[in-house]
Amino acid sequence: MTAQTIPVDPFELVVFGGTGDLAYRKLLPALFLRDRAGQIVGPSRIVAVSRRQMSDADYKQATREAIERFVAPDERDEADIARFVDRVSYVSVDGAGDDGWAALKVHLGNADAFIRVFYLAVNPELFGPICQGAARHGLVGRHARVVIEKPIGKDFKTAQVCNEAVGAVFAEQQIYRIDHYLGKETVQNLMALRFANALFEPLWNSAHIDHVQITVAESIGAEGRAAYYDTAGALRDMVQNHILQLLCLVAMEPPTSMDADAVRDEKLKVLQALTPIGPDNVDRVTVRGQYNAGASAGGAVSAYAEEVGNGTLTETFVSIKAEIANWRWAGVPFYLRTGKRLASRVSEIVVSFRPIPHSIFGGDAGRVVTNRLVIRLQPDEGVKLWLMIKDPGPGGMRLKHVPLDMSFAQAFGGRNPDAYERLLMDVVRGNPTLFMRRDEVDAAWRWVDPILNAWRAKGDAPKSYTSGTWGPSASVALIERDGRTWYEDLD
Ligand code: BG6
Repeated sequence: MTAQTIPVDPFELVVFGGTGDLAYRKLLPALFLRDRAGQIVGPSRIVAVSRRQMSDADYKQATREAIERFVAPDERDEADIARFVDRVSYVSVDGAGDDGWAALKVHLGNADAFIRVFYLAVNPELFGPICQGAARHGLVGRHARVVIEKPIGKDFKTAQVCNEAVGAVFAEQQIYRIDHYLGKETVQNLMALRFANALFEPLWNSAHIDHVQITVAESIGAEGRAAYYDTAGALRDMVQNHILQLLCLVAMEPPTSMDADAVRDEKLKVLQALTPIGPDNVDRVTVRGQYNAGASAGGAVSAYAEEVGNGTLTETFVSIKAEIANWRWAGVPFYLRTGKRLASRVSEIVVSFRPIPHSIFGGDAGRVVTNRLVIRLQPDEGVKLWLMIKDPGPGGMRLKHVPLDMSFAQAFGGRNPDAYERLLMDVVRGNPTLFMRRDEVDAAWRWVDPILNAWRAKGDAPKSYTSGTWGPSASVALIERDGRTWYEDLD
C-alpha cells in the first residue's frame, strides 16, 4: 500500500458517549492508529465525556485496554500506546443537565485555540441538549464542528427534530453526519472505478446494464444491541443509510468534482428519483424476515424473538426491489438485501450487464453467460469482472465464464484502514465529502417512511428464516419472479 500521511492541524476532540461501545471499539482505536501513523500532531487531545463518575487515570486505563483489545498486536507497541494515552483525558458531564459543564469549560480552555470537534456518540435525544449545553457554556468557538452518529431519527419527522436541534447551534457546514460505509476504502474505490476509468461510464446505463444487486450480509445477530435494534429493524438500521448511500454511489451522475456539494448534489438526485413504495406495491417489492434458531459462525444460535423476548415483529432481514425513475436507470431494478445471522459476512455490489444481442457460437461451445462487475466491499476487498473466454487448449471452441480478479490485499498488501480513521481525520480537515448532508438524510427517510407505514398497516409478522441461510425463501422469489437470481459467489 502506498499510503500517504499528511498531518492534520492540532485539534480537540470532545467525545460525548466516551464510555460507550463505539468509543472503545471504534473511535479510540482509530485515533490511536492515526496517532501512530504520525497524522495527529502537536497538542491535539481527546477529551472523553459521559455522565459516569470516573477518574482520569481510570479512563486512561480503559483506553489502554480498548487498544489492546481492538488493535492487532502488530499494529501497536508500548511507546505508541503510552504517547496516545497521554493525549486522552476524561470529564464527567451530564449532557442533559447542568452538572459538569463548568469543569469541562475549564478543562478545555480557550474555545478558539484549536479546531474543536464535538463527537456525539449518544442517543439522538441528547443531540439537542448537548449542543445547547456546549453553546450555553461558551464551548463552541470559531473552529467548532459537530459529528453525529446514526440513528438520525426513526422517521422523517423525528429526523427533523434531531436536525433542527443540532442546527440551532451549528451551521450546516459545521455538521458531519457519519455514515461509516462512506469511509470504507472499497466504497471510495467505487468512485475511482466509475470516474477514473473511461471503460465503464459509457456502459453505465439501462442500455447495457440489466440489473444491480447490493448485498450487505452479516453473520452476527442483534448481539448486545437488542434494545436499540428492536426499535429500529433492518430497514432503518442498514437500508435508510448504508445501503441507500451505496446505491447513490453506483447510480449517481458524474459530479463535476470531488467537492463535497458537487458529490452530495448528485447523490440527492438519486434519492429523489427512487420510485415510491407504499401500500399498493409493498408486498410485491419488499420482503421482511426475522431469524429463527439455526447455526451461524460455526455455532448453534437462538431465534431473534427469544433473544429479545417480547413477541417482536422487528425485521432482521429485508430485501427490496428498488427502481430509479430517471433517464439513466428507468427499467433497471436495484435489488437490495441485508440481514443479520445470514450465511456469511459479506458486502458486495454486483452490476449485471445485458446479454449479448446474438451468439455466433454453436450449442457445443456452451452457454454465454452475461458479464458481471462485482465490487466486494468486505471482507477480501476487491473487484472481479466476469468475462467469457475460450477454454484454453484443443477441443474446439468451448466458452468459459471466468473472473478477472483483483484482490486489494494481494495487489497492495498492508493494512486496510478502518472507515473511522479516515472519517475522523476528514472532520478535522474540514472535508465533508464523505458525510451526509441534511437533505440527503431527509430524502432517504421520505422513501423509507412509506415502506414502514405500509408494513405497519398490514401488521403481518416478518417471514422467518433459519439462521445461517440467505434469508426467507420469499427473498429468492422476489428476484426469481423477474427471471434473475441472487449472485452466489459469496463465500
Ligand atoms: C451499523 C449497524 O451501522 O453497521 C449495525 O447499526 C451493523 O447493525 C453495522 O452491524 C455493520 O457495519 P460493518 O462495518 O461491520 O459492516
